[in-house]
Amino acid sequence: MRYIDSHSGLDTSRKILKVNHAGEFAAVNIYRSRLVVCRIVMRDLVPLLEEFPADEKRHLAIFWTEIRRRNGVKCKSYWLCGLGGYCMGIASALLGRRGIMACRWAVESVVVNHLHHQIAYLKNKHDLPALEAVEAILEDEQNHRDTGFAAGGAGNIRVKPLRFAISSFTEAVIRFGMR
Ligand SMILES: [Fe+2]
Ligand SMILES: [Fe+2]
Repeated sequence: MRYIDSHSGLDTSRKILKVNHAGEFAAVNIYRSRLVVCRIVMRDLVPLLEEFPADEKRHLAIFWTEIRRRNGVKCKSYWLCGLGGYCMGIASALLGRRGIMACRWAVESVVVNHLHHQIAYLKNKHDLPALEAVEAILEDEQNHRDTGFAAGGAGNIRVKPLRFAISSFTEAVIRFGMR
């Protein structure tokens, strides 16, 4: 998706910060609900899930700090994203390691793609603080995506419908937030 100037009351930079902040809340909740499921029924997968929640919490704080600095408020879809993330975490965890890795790869591929477009837009706008916030998370999200890929999340044919559903949902949520 190409990022262009907003014609509504909120400029595109602020929208990017809000949407990313809500997305990070979804990510935090994906890990949160997965851990709940895996601690009960798949304890061997717990170590797999303990690596990245700290990254997502840090990303959440980065965007919130910049939103507050601009006297902004949370995105309208913030709680909905949280709930969506929580459900997505449960659904993917119930499919085991395959589901978790497919979900990770699908979500992070869409996210990384958007981050690149956001960076291009913010560079063009010379909005340095917003640019720094987005650039600060890029490497982590690429790493999350790549671990999903390395663990077979991108190729397993049996979870292809899940990957497609999650990619489409993630893309739709971001586009909806940027309207
Ligand atoms: Fe993140
Ligand atoms: Fe991530």
